[in-house]
Amino acid sequence: MQPSDSTVIYPGSFDPITNGHLDIIERAHKLFGLIIVAVADPLHKKCFFSLEDRIYFVRESTKHLERVRVEKLEGLLVDFARKKGARAIIRGLRAVSDFEYEFKMAWMNRRMHPELETLFLIPSENYAYIASSLVKEIAFLGGDVKELVPPVVYERLKDVKIDGKGPSLEVE
Ligand code: COA
Repeated sequence: MQPSDSTVIYPGSFDPITNGHLDIIERAHKLFGLIIVAVADPLHKKCFFSLEDRIYFVRESTKHLERVRVEKLEGLLVDFARKKGARAIIRGLRAVSDFEYEFKMAWMNRRMHPELETLFLIPSENYAYIASSLVKEIAFLGGDVKELVPPVVYERLKDVKIDGKGPSLEVE
């Protein structure tokens, strides 16, 4: 099957990108002409990695995919999608627990931009249980996350130190 010429947006906080996110990007890459990975600073949670780091991790991890662009997401996703001429938003669905949150977002986005579709892709079962917060917790507590994240993230997670104030990144 040839990829269509449509542009789609894959938004998220990617704090950090995991192999589960990458799996979704690779699946979308087979289907669509241009995938814009939109990295956000969400209002509903505080990210551990800076926006610059998160964008860098996604860029490095998707270097092998020629039709993937990584950008900062500012403002409303629907406005960003309009500006980019995107026809759809891609989201990954891992488990039933994702449904409620995803449906709420999809309906809200449709209210604001009725022509923009939300498409759900299902990751490989190997990644169905991965979440960025779990990966961070395991890494911060000394567990091995090599199989769960791209190499650039794995290397950076080694710079995390934990003291009385919680986890922080060692300055290079
Ligand atoms: N593999 C691994 N993990 C995945 C995953 C996959 N395929 N799909 C989702 N996740 C995880 C993420 O790691 C994250 O886990 P965490 O909370 O443990 O860190 C969680 O699922 C959800 O994160 P993510 O997919 O990055 O979404 P988000 O909720 O952080 O981001 C935005 C939501 C950025 C898309 C949303 O806030 C947005 O659109 N913001 C722009 C402003 C706007 O338009 N708001 C109105 C929206 S209606």
